[in-house]
Amino acid sequence: MNVAGSVRVPGDKSITHRVLLLAALARGTSNIGGALTSLDARSTARVLRQLGAELSPLRPGVPVTVRGVGKFRRPEGPLFCGNSGTTTRLLLGLLSAHRFSATLTGDRSLRRRPMRRVTVPLASMGARFTEGNGDGLPLTVKGERLRPISYEMPVSSAQIKSAILLAGMAGEVDVALREPHGRSRDHTERLLRAFGYEVSEDDGWIHFTPGGHLEPFDVQVPGDPSSAAFLVGAATLAQAGELMIAAVGINPTRTGFLDVLRRMGAAIRLENRADSFGEPVGDLVVRPASLRGTEVSAGEIPGLIDEIPLLAVLASRASGITTFRQVGELRVKESDRLGLIAENLRAVGAEAEVAGDDLVVIGSDRVPKGRVRTAADHRLAMAFAVLGTVQGARITIDDMACAAVSFPGFPDTLKRISSRRRAEPAPRTRA
Ligand code: S3P
Repeated sequence: MNVAGSVRVPGDKSITHRVLLLAALARGTSNIGGALTSLDARSTARVLRQLGAELSPLRPGVPVTVRGVGKFRRPEGPLFCGNSGTTTRLLLGLLSAHRFSATLTGDRSLRRRPMRRVTVPLASMGARFTEGNGDGLPLTVKGERLRPISYEMPVSSAQIKSAILLAGMAGEVDVALREPHGRSRDHTERLLRAFGYEVSEDDGWIHFTPGGHLEPFDVQVPGDPSSAAFLVGAATLAQAGELMIAAVGINPTRTGFLDVLRRMGAAIRLENRADSFGEPVGDLVVRPASLRGTEVSAGEIPGLIDEIPLLAVLASRASGITTFRQVGELRVKESDRLGLIAENLRAVGAEAEVAGDDLVVIGSDRVPKGRVRTAADHRLAMAFAVLGTVQGARITIDDMACAAVSFPGFPDTLKRISSRRRAEPAPRTRA
């Protein structure tokens, strides 16, 4: 296919969850422009309403108005977090400092995802947990008066880090944290600083000190780089043309995939850099390119954790071998992503294998054909849809609807950026 025109991607998922949570706690009215309106964002909105906040409906292109409550109130029933690990884990942090019991649950995929990685540190701060399903959900949290914590995290994870920082904020206690390798996304730290909290970094440790104050705010959420990644991938695989993706978040803890793609030979330019509420934003301009394999080190993984499905399908089109080191975390995402990336690449005729905790992909120019099993994992569905744009490809994806977890309208956007004729401007899409 050829690509052309300019597009916007939906609002950043991580930032949307965080600003909704903080706006729901800040007493007064906040206005959130550009918020993601996907299924995951709706899960956060739904549970925040159960906790007493008032949120206007999440509709594409319409700012969300949030009337925050100061303190959450005890919810009537279980808090259903859908497919969203971020909703669940960040909320567990906030609820750890609220003196009532609340039960969290979710869909089949979320119920099997590990929660002890957040409940262990939160319990050491004083919160109490009753497990209904071992390490997974449902789980009941009873908030208490919290104690400070100094904690070396077993895995680099923004969800664990944010849960503990948000507990520190809501419970007004000091927090010191250290991630084992690589820095995970730092949106929570940036937001807390915007509200006057002290968050400093020193020798690999993050120190949080209470003293700030949540106030209602107006914010514009940037486009999600993790959603933009799929369009960057499609434009890279294209035969001709140029694609502009406007107003994408380019926080350096999220753009590891751009570094890796450039190393592989991709042609990506960054234009119109600006800042929005402490987060850098820019336009990405992408041209087709031939890729070569690379090694992605363990330290790079936290900065591109959600882009590995896409990078893996691109690696299957590169010359040579690409190795992703130490990607065991992918086993506990929305699906066993590690196993399914390799299985599905093989299912469409590519070569890939899991070696211990590494993922190895051998590139070729064989035309991909076959059936993809997503296990309802949005990022697998979108990554393989991108592979399906290769000339002559015949890929069937068992569930494309799950893309709506993070990128509503993805199949339409993918169609819209492709032009069968020579490059001419495609219609502007609304996220
Ligand atoms: C997220 C953190 C990452 C990422 C997820 C969103 C966040 O999870 O995979 O999609 O918003 O904090 P981990 O922290 O478990 O790596």
